[in-house]
Amino acid sequence: MSSDIQLSLFNNSNSNQRDLIPTDAKIAITPGTYSNMTELAQDCNRCHRCGLGDNRTHAVVGRGNLQAPIMVVGEAPGQTEDETGLPFVGRSGQLLEKILASVKLSTENDVYIANINKCRPENNRAPTPSEMTACTPYLLEQIRLVDPKIILLTGATAVKGLTGDKRGITKIRGQWIEWEGRLCMPIFHPSYLLRNPSKEQGSPKWLMWQDIQAVRAKLDEIRNLQSS
Ligand code: URA
Repeated sequence: MSSDIQLSLFNNSNSNQRDLIPTDAKIAITPGTYSNMTELAQDCNRCHRCGLGDNRTHAVVGRGNLQAPIMVVGEAPGQTEDETGLPFVGRSGQLLEKILASVKLSTENDVYIANINKCRPENNRAPTPSEMTACTPYLLEQIRLVDPKIILLTGATAVKGLTGDKRGITKIRGQWIEWEGRLCMPIFHPSYLLRNPSKEQGSPKWLMWQDIQAVRAKLDEIRNLQSS
């Protein structure tokens, strides 16, 4: 076989594999399928690995620095996110930005934001286990591409979707866990804080303040180690 034919077979097989991905959740999205976020977003926008693709306006893939040291993982898009195609841009997102800014973290410099599910579940219900399973391979590829040092998992669905840990968020928030060699911290979902506005000592907002300071300290520690 000539090397030209071998090369074209190689290229075709790669794109054929990608053509199959969006239609069937049984087809694995293997690590290395995507060489960049644009390709991944194209597939998400034509994906029907679960039923959520039938009703989307936009797949909501991610926003922020593609080389960020911190990745925030949410649950699934809401209405504003579905309309804009950007994660965490509604009320929860505005609070998330404030929390990050309180320790001088921003999506411009330090943070990339994504979700377990890229398409909006109707009436903002939680995604089902099979919807999460169908979609998480995209998130795994995003994590591989961004290569964050720290992953913040907002709420129990994000924790369960990525790590499989089914414990309640109040039990595990603020604790560092290691997942696939990466440091992860479960934190409250910002929507939970919107429903619990008290800032009293021990309240969810107060606990979030402790957690985000621990994240800032860990990032500084990692950066200091890298520069020494
Ligand atoms: N809640 C989430 O979990 N993700 C979003 O993108 C918006 C709200």
